[in-house]
Amino acid sequence: MILNDYQEIRDMVAKFADTEVAPLAASIDKNEKIPADLVAKLGENGFLGSYVPEEYGGAGMDYTSYSIIVEEISRACASTGVLISAHTSLGIYPILAFGNEEQKKKFLPKLASGEHIGCFCLSEPNAGTDAGSLTTYAEDKGDYYEISGTKNFITNGKEANIAIVFAKTTKTPNYKGISAFIVDTSTPGFQVMKCEDKLGIKGSSTAQIAFDKVKVPKENLLGEYEKGFKIAMGTLDGGRIGIASQALGIAEAAFRYAKYYSNERVQFGKPLHALQAIQFILADMSTKIAASRLLIWEASRRKDEGVEYSLQSAQAKLFAAETAMWVTTKAIQVLGGNGYTKEYPVERYFRDAKITEIYEGTSEIQRVVIAANELKEFNS
Ligand code: CAA
Repeated sequence: MILNDYQEIRDMVAKFADTEVAPLAASIDKNEKIPADLVAKLGENGFLGSYVPEEYGGAGMDYTSYSIIVEEISRACASTGVLISAHTSLGIYPILAFGNEEQKKKFLPKLASGEHIGCFCLSEPNAGTDAGSLTTYAEDKGDYYEISGTKNFITNGKEANIAIVFAKTTKTPNYKGISAFIVDTSTPGFQVMKCEDKLGIKGSSTAQIAFDKVKVPKENLLGEYEKGFKIAMGTLDGGRIGIASQALGIAEAAFRYAKYYSNERVQFGKPLHALQAIQFILADMSTKIAASRLLIWEASRRKDEGVEYSLQSAQAKLFAAETAMWVTTKAIQVLGGNGYTKEYPVERYFRDAKITEIYEGTSEIQRVVIAANELKEFNS
């Protein structure tokens, strides 16, 4: 695609975000729920299947367009942004990249249209950052697998119809022996145990899910037997671009509000932006946001061109997440006491930003991935 096309996509998504999403953001945060008709509109506009090829019912866009969609929607509402990101990067992508033709035809059209919502079940109560130590077990029962275990912090877990589930098919203490499965969440034994009461992204469900002898047909094994950890890691490489885009959207929203406020608010007889202390904050916000966007674009471009992008997606997520936290903290500072209240949206941006430094790999894990890539030559 050429830059003009991306600008057209951004303008189209921004219009939708400003008219359909932003007016609902405060109530989504307060009521801890994204209205079903908003999810339906996301589907109708192609935002839930943006990079799914048209032959499987998607909009046939590329990953760069997808990152623009997540950024613009997250600028309006970070909960809605992560619904799109977890559904697309974590629910759809593994089927698209590792599924066989039959699985793609069976599962992608409903996911791409938004009729079905997807989620990704990797983390467990005792296997978070150390994902390879998960203990959920899929027992081979001949015609089917029977999955038992507990997964937690599952974004979209409450709404999902389709779950990508990682389970051991051989009991080992490390990542070896993990296989991936496509699981229909209406299967008996799949049970949402609780949804977390969180600091931010309150409209997005974060569920703990119990698997009690969930029967999964053999044909729902995703990718190669016992190559599940590579599927998880490969999926998270792309997912991290989605979360970086979410972080960027939150930072952009906080920056725009701080800028607007600095013009409205008069102190010492002048608008705030006449003060160099405020100008310097706005200048640093603008620069960090621009740098985040370029890192995201570089990671997305590499993914679109089929070039290795683990390093770039980790850099994008690390920088954009830390930028979101910094920009939202400073936005509250610009607004002073007002920024600390729920009368103004920056306190929501601040609460929503924090999770981007944690999920889909903490900032520490992004540094592990970056260092491992940069030091490869000394360790081979
Ligand atoms: N792509 C493909 N394969 C990869 C890979 C990648 N990006 N990274 C590693 N691998 C492969 C390695 O090549 C290796 O395979 P071989 O044995 O064939 O050589 C295998 O995976 C193990 O690699 P490591 O030895 O590096 O693995 P490790 O156990 O030391 O873990 C880690 C590395 C970076 C710490 C990894 O465990 C990790 O990323 N942890 C964070 C997990 C995470 O992001 N969790 C978030 C879950 S999703 C979520 O947040 C919930 C939600 O709903 C939003």
